Amino acid sequence: MYGINSLTLAALTLAAQTIVATSAYAPYFAKSFHGHRTSADSSSEGNVYPVKDCSAFIDKSKNSWSCHNTSAIATEDQCCFENYGILMQAQFWDYNTTLLSVAVNGTARDIVKADVQSQVDSLYDDLKRTFTIHGLWNDHCDGKYSSNCQPDLEVSDERDNLTHLIGVEFNEPELLAVMKRYWINTLKSNVADQASIALWEHEYNKHGTCMNTLNPPCFDSGFKEHEQAVNFYKKTVEIWSQLDTYEFLAAAGIYPTVAKQYKLADVQRALADAHGGEVYVGCLDGAIDEIWYYHNLQGNVLTGTYKAIDSLTNSTCKENVWYIPK
Ligand SMILES: *[C@@H]1O[C@H](CO)[C@@H](O)[C@H](O)[C@H]1NC(C)=O
Ligand SMILES: *[C@@H]1O[C@H](CO)[C@@H](O)[C@H](O)[C@H]1NC(C)=O
Ligand SMILES: *[C@@H]1O[C@H](CO)[C@@H](O)[C@H](O)[C@H]1NC(C)=O
Ligand SMILES: *[C@@H]1O[C@H](CO)[C@@H](O)[C@H](O)[C@H]1NC(C)=O
Ligand SMILES: *[C@@H]1O[C@H](CO)[C@@H](O)[C@H](O)[C@H]1NC(C)=O
Repeated sequence: MYGINSLTLAALTLAAQTIVATSAYAPYFAKSFHGHRTSADSSSEGNVYPVKDCSAFIDKSKNSWSCHNTSAIATEDQCCFENYGILMQAQFWDYNTTLLSVAVNGTARDIVKADVQSQVDSLYDDLKRTFTIHGLWNDHCDGKYSSNCQPDLEVSDERDNLTHLIGVEFNEPELLAVMKRYWINTLKSNVADQASIALWEHEYNKHGTCMNTLNPPCFDSGFKEHEQAVNFYKKTVEIWSQLDTYEFLAAAGIYPTVAKQYKLADVQRALADAHGGEVYVGCLDGAIDEIWYYHNLQGNVLTGTYKAIDSLTNSTCKENVWYIPK
C-alpha cells in the first residue's frame, strides 16, 4: 500500500499548481517577470538602450529584416542590420538526475513519494519552476554559426570584475541580481557564484562579440568600455523574461513529474503556440534539458523587433520525453 493514495496526490497537485499560478514575481523592465507575451514579437517597449536610432533605415529599406535582405546592406546601416540574422534565446532545464532514476527505475511507491515531494519543494523555490538562461545567440541564416568573432571586445572576470562592472560601474544592481539568480550554469553552481560568472563571460565572448549591431560605433556618444557587453546581458535577460517556458507548458497542462512521460509533439505544440514558431527541445538521457527560441530581427539587437521563426534544429528527444522536476 502507498502512504498516499492517488486522490490525495491529485489534490496536492492541484493545490500546488494553484499556488504557483497565483504567486507574485519580481517585475523586470516594467513587465511581469515570468510574464506572458501579448504578441508574437518581443521587442522592448521604448528605447532603454543607448544605441543609435534605426527608424530611418527601417522606414526606407525593404531589406530591414535579418536573413530577408535582397541586396547588400550599406556600411552606414551596419548598426541596424544583424548580418548573422538568426537570434536564438537558449534556456536550460537543469533537472534532478536522481529523480530521473526514480522515474525510470523506481517502484510505484518511490514515484508517488518523489512526485509529491518535488511538488512541495517547487512551492518554496521558484528556480524549480524556471527554465534558466543559457544565452542569446546569433546564428547565420543557414543555421551555422561563428564564435568569438572579436577578441578585442571580450570581457574577462579576472581583469574586469563582472559583478563590479554590471552592479557598480554601470549601476545595474537589478540586472545583476536577476543574472545571479537565473543565469546559472547549474542549480548547484548558484551557490558557488563563480561558476555563473564564468558562464556570463563565455556567453558574451562567444556569441555577443559576433553581433555587429553591438559594435561600439553603434552606441550613442559617450561609449564606455564594455558597455556593449553589459547591454548584451540586459537584452538577453529581457528576451528570456518574456519566454517563460515553464508557464507555456503549464498552460497546456504539462508539468514536471516523475510519474509519466509526455509526447514530444505535445510539448512542441504548447511551445509553438506560445512562441509563434516551432521551438527546439533538447533532451539529455531522454529528459528535456534545453529549449531554444528562434527569431529574425529588424533593427539593432538591443532596440529592434524580434519575430518568432521556426527552429532550424531538429529535436534531440525521442517520441516520448521525460519532464523531470529540478
Ligand atoms: C544580405 O546581407 C548579408 C549581410 O550583410 C549579406 O552577406 C548578403 O549577401 C545579403 N543578401 C543579399 C541577397 O544580398
Ligand atoms: C534530487 O532529488 C533527490 C531525491 O528527491 C534529493 O535527495 C536531492 O536533494 C535532489 N537534488 C537536488 C540538487 O535538489
Ligand atoms: C535503470 O536501471 C538500469 C539497470 O540497472 C540502468 O542501466 C539504468 O542506467 C537505470 N536508468 C536510470 C535513468 O537510472
Ligand atoms: C569585484 O567587485 C565586487 C563588487 O564591487 C567586490 O565585492 C569584489 O570584492 C570584487 N572582486 C575582486 C576580486 O576584486
Ligand atoms: C530534420 O529532420 C528532417 C526530417 O527527418 C530532415 O529532413 C531534416 O534534414 C533535418 N534537419 C536537420 C537540420 O538536421
